[in-house]
Amino acid sequence: VRLLLVGLGALGQGLLAHLDGLGPRLRDAYGLRARIVAALDTSGAVVRPEGVEPAVLLKAKRSREGLASLQPWYRPGRRALEIIHTVDADAVVEVTPTNILDGEPAMSHIRGALKARRHVVTANKGPIALAMPFLVSLAEEQGVMLRFSGTVGGGTPMLDFARQSLRGDRVVSIAGILNGTTNYILTKMFEGLGFDAALAEAQRLGYAEANPDYDVKGIDAGVKLAILANWAAGATLRVTDVSTRGIEGVSRADVDRARAAGQVIKLVCRYDGGKARVAPEALPLAHPLNVPGPLNAVTYTTEQLGDLTLVGKGAGGRETSAALLRDLIDIHLRTR
Ligand SMILES: NC(=O)c1ccc[n+]([C@@H]2O[C@H](COP(=O)([O-])OP(=O)(O)OC[C@H]3O[C@@H](n4cnc5c(N)ncnc54)[C@H](OP(=O)(O)O)[C@@H]3O)[C@@H](O)[C@H]2O)c1
Repeated sequence: VRLLLVGLGALGQGLLAHLDGLGPRLRDAYGLRARIVAALDTSGAVVRPEGVEPAVLLKAKRSREGLASLQPWYRPGRRALEIIHTVDADAVVEVTPTNILDGEPAMSHIRGALKARRHVVTANKGPIALAMPFLVSLAEEQGVMLRFSGTVGGGTPMLDFARQSLRGDRVVSIAGILNGTTNYILTKMFEGLGFDAALAEAQRLGYAEANPDYDVKGIDAGVKLAILANWAAGATLRVTDVSTRGIEGVSRADVDRARAAGQVIKLVCRYDGGKARVAPEALPLAHPLNVPGPLNAVTYTTEQLGDLTLVGKGAGGRETSAALLRDLIDIHLRTR
């Protein structure tokens, strides 16, 4: 599989590390030989049709000079769309930062790649939350595949599980903890910290951004709930249809009161078959969604099986890039 990698941050580098470390296993188990024919960051592109070894790319990206150290393959200032249109590749991996206002630049990268009949793998929530039906049908029209299992749940296969492991059944409602940062903050508050101290610790550990609004106000959770409900339960939600309340109003007193009643406050995402909402809720301590720290969890209520809960790491470069790898293997197995 000839790969074109757009974005070399935590996820792009995580994928390179997997391809480097798992090469023989991918070859023996799946017959997958990944050849990276181009890779881009904001500085430009590295292009080599014969392939650049993942370890070589990783070392260059982590060096002081960055991709510029990869002469003569480095092309400064080149943009992703141009490379997508001019370099022969089978699949494009899109892992640039998420933008939930218009999805850019990922929206153009993904649309351009599908139009050029490249398979696309992404963990970028923006384009998928804003335009899943359009992008899925564009992929179908073009005879290629679009995979985005890392957009919700990080490496935990929440989307794949609903579609592939529940065939013949139907997801009627969803409840989940879909944002690891807020779950970490609430866990620390349950252990006795105030909101500000818990947020500062989340930032120190790299769970929360310097500007934590996107997580704390429940926006990230709402975006993920829209993707999950649309994909797993056939909903047609726009991001703006999700009623969203974050944890900024949750005080230590609220947490202590809940604890005294044998409960814990969680930022819960719910889709009931009609409405979707994100809001803090008090849950019994023994509730399956009472998962600690930065973990994510989802409970699917299905017609045949009742409740099924999946728990796992919801973010992290290594974990989420395992979802990119899973998607690539899936595309490879379906097309070989
Ligand atoms: N990290 C996670 O745990 C996680 C989990 C789930 C989903 N995601 C999603 O996955 C995506 C990637 O996440 P990340 O953590 O890897 O982000 P990141 O560390 O911020 O890396 C983003 C990468 O994209 C590059 N980039 C930005 N604009 C570009 C452009 N126009 N053309 C080419 N490259 C561009 C950046 O280049 P420079 O290196 O030059 O800055 C950087 O290498 C995001 O959409 C994120 O929301 C991440």
